[in-house]
Amino acid sequence: AKPNRDYDLTTPITSTSGLRQGLTSYGDAHFSLFLRKVFIKALGYSEDALSRPIVGIINTFSGFNPCHANVPQLIEAAKRGVQLNGGLAVEFPTISIHESFSHPTSMFLRNLMSMDTEEMIRAQPLDACIMIGGCDKTVPAQLMGGISANKPVLPLITGPMLPGSHNGQRIGACTDCRNNWAALRAGEIDVEEISAINEELAPTIGTCGVMGTASTMACVTAALGMMSLRGASAPAVSSARLRIAEETGANAVAVAKLARKPQDVLSKESFLNAITVLQAIGGSTNAVVHLMAIANRHPALQGMITLQTVDEIGCKTPLLIDLKPSGDNYMNDFHNAGGMLALLEILRPLLHLSALTITGQTLGEVLDASQSRRLSFPQQIIRPLSNPLFPASSLAILRGNLAPDGAVIKASASKYRSLLAHTGPAVVFKNSADLARRIDDTELAVTKDSVLVLKGIGPIGNPGMPEAGLIPIPKKLAAAGVKDMLRLSDGRMSGTAGGTIILHISPESVLPESPFGVVETGDLITCDINTRRLQLEVAEEVLQARIEKRRRCVQGTTGSVARKQRGYRGLYERSVNQAQEGADFDFLAASGPLKGFM
Ligand code: FES
Ligand code: MG
Repeated sequence: AKPNRDYDLTTPITSTSGLRQGLTSYGDAHFSLFLRKVFIKALGYSEDALSRPIVGIINTFSGFNPCHANVPQLIEAAKRGVQLNGGLAVEFPTISIHESFSHPTSMFLRNLMSMDTEEMIRAQPLDACIMIGGCDKTVPAQLMGGISANKPVLPLITGPMLPGSHNGQRIGACTDCRNNWAALRAGEIDVEEISAINEELAPTIGTCGVMGTASTMACVTAALGMMSLRGASAPAVSSARLRIAEETGANAVAVAKLARKPQDVLSKESFLNAITVLQAIGGSTNAVVHLMAIANRHPALQGMITLQTVDEIGCKTPLLIDLKPSGDNYMNDFHNAGGMLALLEILRPLLHLSALTITGQTLGEVLDASQSRRLSFPQQIIRPLSNPLFPASSLAILRGNLAPDGAVIKASASKYRSLLAHTGPAVVFKNSADLARRIDDTELAVTKDSVLVLKGIGPIGNPGMPEAGLIPIPKKLAAAGVKDMLRLSDGRMSGTAGGTIILHISPESVLPESPFGVVETGDLITCDINTRRLQLEVAEEVLQARIEKRRRCVQGTTGSVARKQRGYRGLYERSVNQAQEGADFDFLAASGPLKGFM
């Protein structure tokens, strides 16, 4: 038998793969490798197994996360793919975040998950890593962490749930959660009916079945070239989803052998493609924040992808997908209509086909290779460029004296298009508690033309920018049939929600310099989508005087009090940057805090 050279002190350990990575802990590489083998062999692995490319698989299963309930099956299929191709698959856990079980908000935990992901990928001796995720904040957190760790990473999506049914109508989380809740508030349905609906809104495991944040990020990840196009839409409960997992395992071995890292795959063009897809699918406003954070993790792209990029691409990209909340259908309809492959075929003239993908093919080569399988049959879900659902700019960026650093609106989800060019008097709520207390007060001075303003829900103000931006229509107006109003906040809203809602106003209201922080009830506010203006109709001197007065009041109070929390929350409040930079921690961006970034 050949002697095991790993312990021969006269030979240098030259290979950098698998168990041999980062053998510096004891200042003696041979001893470090020897110890590693001691402990990994406790798991029963042989020298043969350990000589293969090691593919880590991130297990984000949790009993509190129905969006990830199929993770055990996906791990099994991904392992099969790895091992059929000569690799060794080793799973490990990171934290798991579900939208509904992440107090104060899942976004508050996104950066924590990105740190967990980055450091565990970096720490462990793996040659490539499959990152299994699906629920809203998970996929961005994993991409952020994976790009920063810059070892070969392959996202694997859990997939969307199927729709349910109520009184002969299809329903699904979570656009219909909101529509039906609004119907209850308006007195259109009763308590018995809403309980029956509650049973059917999430009838299977998997991520929300509309074009919410989870589905958006799945499509965006495929458009970035980081996973197969089919990987974006196959339902969580489908056998296709398991085959995608097996294929991801096979790809992981190939990517591990080539050491193809995310910073090599991703380019400016990949992000331009992702934003084109974001606009064409009527994707979630949250994806705008996530894309900024993801791009800013890449040293060569930091500061190159901005809100302006999103707006410019929007101007030339029509909305083609008829899915809720902008349209009528569900993710499984998109999948059955051909999914991302069919969509990208249509978007070809708007895409950068030379962008690289994880397999080493360019996006153009991926599309060419798939031509024979191209689905061409009559369907209503993916529209041709000549017959879009919304002509352009489903997501638009607004600016003005109220939002000097920008704000985001999903124009395609507006219910009354006249509100997209509207001036009305502000009704201001200073935070979510104030909103909850007064919104349904019958004495509240509000009409359908009022502009509802909610402050205090920005990245620092209510850590994690809660999805409270979908300010409810005051009950008395809802009962009178009002379905939409112009609403403004520095927070976010669910990707599954609709209405004329302006979000992510920056700088956020708790910052002393924030013009949004000094809006008063009765001030006139103008939103004009055509000129991209968000304007407080108050003289500049008055605005500046209000800011100055507030700055004097808050000096030594809000600014410092809000930042004296302990633990993770303290870290969050000290380090989170504003929405237009991605609400990431400033020290996690590729080269630390960005200065004067817009
Ligand atoms: Fe997980 Fe909607 S709650 S995707
Ligand atoms: Mg959501």
